[in-house]
Amino acid sequence: MSSAFCGICVVLVVTLTRTYCFQWTAVLPDETVKYACVGDDIVLPWGYTTSPRTVVDSIQWFFHGSSQELVAIFANGNFQPTASFSGRVTQLTRAGLNLSHVTNGDKGNYSVEVSGHNASGVSFSYRRTVTLRIVELQTSDGELHATLDPQAIYSNTTGRWSLVLSCGNFTYLTDPPFTMEWQTPSGAVIPSDGYTDGHFQLHVTSGGDYTCRIPQHAAADACLHNASSHHATVHVDRMEARMTLMEARQGQLEKENKQLKNEVAELKDREAHRYTSLAESVYNLTDKVNQSVAFTAWLIAPHSGNSIIVTFDHIVTNVGDGYSPTTGIFTAPVAGLYFFRLTSAPSSMNAYPDATLRKEGVAICVAGSAKDVYGEEASCGATVHLDAGQRVWVGSGNYLAGSYTSFAGFLVNVD
Ligand SMILES: *[C@@H]1O[C@H](CO)[C@@H](O)[C@H](O)[C@H]1NC(C)=O
Ligand SMILES: *[C@@H]1O[C@H](CO)[C@@H](O)[C@H](O)[C@H]1NC(C)=O
Ligand SMILES: *[C@@H]1O[C@H](CO)[C@@H](O)[C@H](O)[C@H]1NC(C)=O
Ligand SMILES: *[C@@H]1O[C@H](CO)[C@@H](O)[C@H](O)[C@H]1NC(C)=O
Ligand SMILES: *[C@@H]1O[C@H](CO)[C@@H](O)[C@H](O)[C@H]1NC(C)=O
Ligand SMILES: *[C@@H]1O[C@H](CO)[C@@H](O)[C@H](O)[C@H]1NC(C)=O
Ligand SMILES: *[C@@H]1O[C@H](CO)[C@@H](O)[C@H](O)[C@H]1NC(C)=O
Ligand SMILES: *[C@@H]1O[C@H](CO)[C@@H](O)[C@H](O)[C@H]1NC(C)=O
Repeated sequence: MSSAFCGICVVLVVTLTRTYCFQWTAVLPDETVKYACVGDDIVLPWGYTTSPRTVVDSIQWFFHGSSQELVAIFANGNFQPTASFSGRVTQLTRAGLNLSHVTNGDKGNYSVEVSGHNASGVSFSYRRTVTLRIVELQTSDGELHATLDPQAIYSNTTGRWSLVLSCGNFTYLTDPPFTMEWQTPSGAVIPSDGYTDGHFQLHVTSGGDYTCRIPQHAAADACLHNASSHHATVHVDRMEARMTLMEARQGQLEKENKQLKNEVAELKDREAHRYTSLAESVYNLTDKVNQSVAFTAWLIAPHSGNSIIVTFDHIVTNVGDGYSPTTGIFTAPVAGLYFFRLTSAPSSMNAYPDATLRKEGVAICVAGSAKDVYGEEASCGATVHLDAGQRVWVGSGNYLAGSYTSFAGFLVNVD
């Protein structure tokens, strides 16, 4: 494109052929996208021509990527890179730039700006940009490697074992921009069926030669040495392949068998445990229901009325040993509902048969008579709840007859 700042140029083009004031050369068009592998030297051969009386004052190179900065400046015949590009850039002819040992951080846009003035002192400034992309798909040694994984793999979706072929050793770990092709021993070409950690995989079930190949359309996407580095072959021994798969299947069967055995043993154990615990429950329950507490006692000698607690000293029954004939106190061996009965008779013509049944000192029923008739008997009965250890006794300050005065009780049911 002829430059606008130079009004006379148009005339010159017609009269003196190819005499321009400022003209980019076509070597590196504007907005070109360049690809590079990490470690490459990249050359940006920006070039221009000027008419004899046009002066270029300065050339500046800029980087717009992970940072925005000046790369280098050329002025007064002096090329000066900035600190962050020092030692990595050199100037080529005119506006050309050589950036050596590129890294991932170098991806981005590079621009050059050429400034100057024409013979009449009118200044100009022209700019061009190149986008640099770093190809990340590369292997550590620039070659493809195809290998057979030592372990067979079980797919629980197909329920089958297979051998795994790996191709790559790419240092690029995210999703690759293409799918590797595999040529099988039958000559068929099929795509990879997996990609992990820089390796394209192919799951196979028989031996032979397998060749992985970067597809033609993707050749530029990989940083490999040369065309012969774009494919690799792995030989899978047919016999060995069969053995490996058979061993894997057998190993799985053994594992499953062991697992089943363990499960059966565990089940048996659990059943046995359940039975024991059931038997124990039944025993505990029977033990509880089986619990029996009952007593009957009467007075041998008349109660004098001197002591408050009546001591029934002749025991008829004392199942569960709740009643004490020495203290006259019944102590509940278990918590539950109890029934007590008290019968009293006066010891002489003038005595009253009054007696009181007490739970921990509190009256729960009174056997009494207003009459002082000899032979008159009084009685009372009560149902009462006792906690284990709570006490019940008969209290009386009266003269009570032997034999006719009695105290009985029994456990109705356990809590
Ligand atoms: C310099 O550029 C100006 C502006 O385009 C133009 O008018 C002038 O003629 C140019 N001078 C020469 C010597 O080309
Ligand atoms: C680089 O330039 C392209 C077009 O020229 C633009 O779309 C892109 O945003 C630029 N990238 C940066 C980092 O400046
Ligand atoms: C670019 O720079 C590198 C490192 O200094 C050098 O080896 C290479 O020859 C240079 N390329 C050109 C075209 O000057
Ligand atoms: C298959 O294997 C995967 C990974 O080992 C597991 O997450 C999944 O639950 C398995 N599916 C079945 C049906 O066993
Ligand atoms: C793959 O690369 C790693 C390191 O990057 C290396 O240790 C390994 O040997 C390589 N494998 C092959 C098959 O080249
Ligand atoms: C390809 O590169 C490898 C490794 O650098 C080399 O041994 C081989 O000769 C090259 N092949 C061709 C055809 O250039
Ligand atoms: C049976 O009774 C004992 C003693 O009270 C207790 O430790 C055990 O847990 C009980 N067993 C069951 C199954 O209830
Ligand atoms: C239940 O009582 C009977 C008779 O006293 C006794 O033989 C049996 O062992 C008791 N059973 C339990 C589980 O306590």
